[in-house]
Amino acid sequence: MELKEIYEPIQKDLAVVEERLKATSVKDAPWLNELLAHALKGGGKRLRPALLLLSARFYDYDLERLMPMAKAVEMMHLATLVHDDTIDNSFTRWGRPTVNKIWGMEKAVLLGDFLFAKSGELTASTENLRVIKLLPQTLMIITNGELAQSASSFQLGQSREQYIFRISSKTAALFVMATESGAVLSKAPEKSIQILHDYGYYLGHAFQIIDDILDFTGTEEEMGKPVASDLWQGTVTLPTLMLMEKYPNDNPVKKLFQGGDKQANIKLAIDMVRNSTIIPECFGVAADYCKKACSGLKDLPKNQAGEVMINLADFIVSRRN
Ligand code: IPE
Ligand code: IPE
Ligand code: MG
Ligand code: MG
Repeated sequence: MELKEIYEPIQKDLAVVEERLKATSVKDAPWLNELLAHALKGGGKRLRPALLLLSARFYDYDLERLMPMAKAVEMMHLATLVHDDTIDNSFTRWGRPTVNKIWGMEKAVLLGDFLFAKSGELTASTENLRVIKLLPQTLMIITNGELAQSASSFQLGQSREQYIFRISSKTAALFVMATESGAVLSKAPEKSIQILHDYGYYLGHAFQIIDDILDFTGTEEEMGKPVASDLWQGTVTLPTLMLMEKYPNDNPVKKLFQGGDKQANIKLAIDMVRNSTIIPECFGVAADYCKKACSGLKDLPKNQAGEVMINLADFIVSRRN
C-alpha cells in the first residue's frame, strides 16, 4: 500500500497540519523566513504528525486541540534533521540541497535551534503539563543517542544492545512523543496511553532499522538523501553488526575502522552485505519490532485508526524511501 492510500482516513486533517506548518513565519525577519520556508517546504513523509493524529482517534478527538502538538512533533523532527545533516556534512535531503549546503553550517545550527524553540512554544500552548514535559525529555534522549553514535563511530567490538540503545534514543523517542501526546491530549485512559506509547516505541525501532538497511540497498534517487553514508561516517548499524558477526576476522569493516582504504573497504562491505542473507535477516528483525508495536492495538476501542496503524507498520517495512 502507498502512503497516500494509508493516510486517506486522516488526509483532510493532515492537510490542515501541512498548511499551518507552511504558514509558519516571523514578522519582519526575511533572513529567518527564507530558511524556515526551505525546511518546511515538504518532501518528507510527515509520519510523526500522522502518528499523533492517529493516536488521538480512539477517544476525544479534537483537531484544534491537537494542532499545536502535530506541528511541534514535525518541527522537532525537522530540527533534528537540519542538525543531523550539518553534523554528517550531508548535502541532500528530500532530493533538495540541505540548509547547511545552501547557507552554511552556522545558519543551519541556528535554524535548528529556532525550530526546537518553536516546537517548545507550540507544546507549551497545549497547557498540558504531561505533554509539556515530554518535549525536553525527548530532546535529551535524542541528543544523548546522537552523542552515543558520535562517540562510537569507527569503534570495533560494538554490541547489538549498544545499537538498539542508539536507535531507541535517536529515533524511537520522537515516535513516542508523537503517539503518547496524541493519546494524552485525547484524554485516553492510562492503559491505552501505554499501548500507544509502546506502538510508537517499537515502530520507531523498526523504522530506523529499515533506514539503516536502505542506506545499504537504496539509491540516492529513491531516498532523496545520500546512501552508504553510515559507513562513511563510521556509524555501526544492524547490517554492519551482522557482517562483523558473520566474518569476525577477515572483514572490510574491521579494515576500514583500523585505518584501511575507505573507498575500497566500504564498497566491499556493501557488496558483501547485499550478497548475503544479512538484508533479509535485518528485515526480519524490523518485522518483529512491527509485530510487537501492533500487538497491543487489539485492546484499544475498535476504530479505523487501528487498521491504519497496522497498515502503517506494514508500509514501514516495505518502504523504499
Ligand atoms: C529520517 O526520518 C530520519 C530518521 C529517523 C531515519 P524520515 O524518513 O521520517 O524523514 P522524512 O520523511 O524524510 O521527513
Ligand atoms: C536519524 O538517523 C537521525 C536523527 C534521529 C536525527 P540517520 O542519521 O540515519 O538519519 P538520515 O539517514 O540522515 O535521515
Ligand atoms: Mg544522518
Ligand atoms: Mg540513515
